[in-house]
Amino acid sequence: METDLDHATALALLEWQIELGADEAIGDAPVDRYALAAKPAPEKVAPTVAPPSVSADPVAEAKAMAEGAADLGSLKAALGMYEHCELRRGARNLVFADGQPEARVMIIGEAPGRDEDRVGKPFVGRAGQLLNLMFDAIGLRRDSETAEAAFYITNVLPWRPPQNRDPKPDEIAMMLPFVQRHVDLANPDVVVLMGNISCQAGLGKRGITRLRGTWAEAYGKPALPMFHPAYLLRNPQAKREAWADLLSLQARLEGP
Ligand code: URA
Repeated sequence: METDLDHATALALLEWQIELGADEAIGDAPVDRYALAAKPAPEKVAPTVAPPSVSADPVAEAKAMAEGAADLGSLKAALGMYEHCELRRGARNLVFADGQPEARVMIIGEAPGRDEDRVGKPFVGRAGQLLNLMFDAIGLRRDSETAEAAFYITNVLPWRPPQNRDPKPDEIAMMLPFVQRHVDLANPDVVVLMGNISCQAGLGKRGITRLRGTWAEAYGKPALPMFHPAYLLRNPQAKREAWADLLSLQARLEGP
């Protein structure tokens, strides 16, 4: 398509879009908006389904929907129908979980990044690869066929926040009933809280450097806060503490 834009103006417009959060091209094929504009607008049709009530309390609605889910499939479907979280509108996929739901260990991360958003599974990017290696070192794999040697993994948020920004408190609050139900249905022996956001959601506090390695209780289960693998990629010297935490997890699983 020909335009009168000079190079500098085109670049400035592109930078402006990136500042607004458009960090990826969504469509595979270009769309000629001029041709589209020439077509008559479709006639407005009255909606046949009532739009979600804007006055509803998002947390109360999340609680009702989550508690109504009888199994993990229904919980995923309930999340798919939950309209209050704006993040869903910018995400490509709902990222629900991966691994073995029967596993004794359930890992709870923060939110999908770009790779997870594209693939639709948690922890598949660089941080996820490190996480796989870490848990493999104590004999736990997400693709293990036996529940004993497996882990199950999810995130506090099932949708990618724009530009991987931290989730906001109201977004965490909306998702908490779903996470609680997720833990109830999977019923692991222990949960691992990966990083500050996961501690914020599960324990109501942050400060991972202080919290890590000390067993606590979250979602009604024994919970171990650990450094997030993304943090370990940036701070490899902290792998020593992460290894100590993995050994603590292993001891707990083998313990009486
Ligand atoms: N970081 C997370 O906390 N979760 C993911 O799924 C990926 C990166």
